[in-house]
Amino acid sequence: MSSHPLYISKAVYRLSRSPPSFPSSSCLLLLSFPCLTLHSSHLSMALLEISPSYAGSRVLPPNDLSSRPINPLLAFKNRLPSLPCSARRIPRILCSVSPNQVQAPVLSATPAGATSKRECFGVFCTTYDLKAADKTKSWKGLINIAVSGAAGMISNHLLFKLASGEVFGPDQPIALKLLGSERSFQALEGVAMELEDSLYPLLREVSIGKDPYDVFQDAEWALLIGAKPRGPGMERAGLLDINGQIFAEQGKALNDVASRNVKVIVVGNPCNTNALICLKNAPNIPAKNFHALTRLDENRAKCQLALKAGVFYDKVSNMTIWGNHSTTQVPDFLNAKINGMPVTKVITDVKWLKEEFTERVQKRGGVLIQKWGRSSAASTAVSIVDAIRSLITPTPEGDWFSSGVYSTGNPYGIAEDIVFSMPCRSKGDGDYELAKDVIFDDYLRERIKKTEAELLAEKRCVAHLTGEGNAYCDLPEDTMLPGEQ
Ligand code: LMR
Repeated sequence: MSSHPLYISKAVYRLSRSPPSFPSSSCLLLLSFPCLTLHSSHLSMALLEISPSYAGSRVLPPNDLSSRPINPLLAFKNRLPSLPCSARRIPRILCSVSPNQVQAPVLSATPAGATSKRECFGVFCTTYDLKAADKTKSWKGLINIAVSGAAGMISNHLLFKLASGEVFGPDQPIALKLLGSERSFQALEGVAMELEDSLYPLLREVSIGKDPYDVFQDAEWALLIGAKPRGPGMERAGLLDINGQIFAEQGKALNDVASRNVKVIVVGNPCNTNALICLKNAPNIPAKNFHALTRLDENRAKCQLALKAGVFYDKVSNMTIWGNHSTTQVPDFLNAKINGMPVTKVITDVKWLKEEFTERVQKRGGVLIQKWGRSSAASTAVSIVDAIRSLITPTPEGDWFSSGVYSTGNPYGIAEDIVFSMPCRSKGDGDYELAKDVIFDDYLRERIKKTEAELLAEKRCVAHLTGEGNAYCDLPEDTMLPGEQ
């Protein structure tokens, strides 16, 4: 029997002797518990919330758990008064193996030296096998990755990349914590099933939920993809408000339950201002940890320059996207390089650079929507991977990458207290510094001013969500997301 990775859960209460009462399409395991101390009576209640058929099941006491250091739950305490334990939704790990598929207890599969758990059945026994196997590998400690909008198209590409090890490395086991909505929950179960069926060795836990306070528990990375698209007739101000509320709530949840050093990448549009709202609602997490995804724009810009210069795109470096992920964004051809030379020396058609190139990058998302009938998904997922990898691997000497980051303290004279895409470098420790050797000319300054003005206006428009008083929406012109043309 092949090892099944999903049930290696170090903060998971396991049910023993469970098969007789298992519902046919889910083997339930409970992931992190939201109470500071969880007695078996609480757990039984929690079980009942999910399925009455668990009522008589025996629950292993906490000391039967293998012990991943559990979140200090410090912040969680703050939530207890408003959210009583018994009322919390418990995230689940789902398994598509039904009892009648389990032929027999897999007792013989237990490797020598591992504790034999006679009460386990089928796939549950592999929990112990894999734990023993882990000891023989030089794997890093498990990391928790929360993903919102997890049933959407972007996630459908991203999650499998994360699970395969191509993002965090082949020695980095991960737990995926997937946030969906009431509407998407069934689809989310489908996503979890597909992840299971993929048998990724590094994927050790999958939990799904609708409540960010549950799903973001102990998250070390939060990839915030879910957002409402702009509907017909909706003003940009309306979009900012609707999505802003989602990101205010998620910021609060991160502040309360995520790792204190969680890295947050906001993808849901308008991502810069959503990231600002999110960080303002998470005062206990460093503002520097929040990013708005502009890596897709960087990748698009590199592709266009490579095409024009007739080189492969790996020859393009130092590609900055300045400002907002909108049609005012500034793809900076002044500082970008091709084969280590300034772009303007390789592509001498300045009119093309200022007009065609710039507009092509700004509007690429919209053109793609016209072709596809939906917005970019695979390339967005790839760019999220790129954005993460840029933070966890050292930036090549002399190069940089673009990310929408908190502008306070920036050396470029850009307005403070907004989330603005700028050139960043990382030592590979998850942190970044802003690139220093950047030049400006009048054209670049003027373009940057325009995207800055847009972001400042967006900020005024969401003041009610950032704790800065009454909102005042005077958006300079109804500028567009890249996809809204
Ligand atoms: C993109 O750049 O492709 C997307 O942000 C477009 C959109 O509006 O969804």
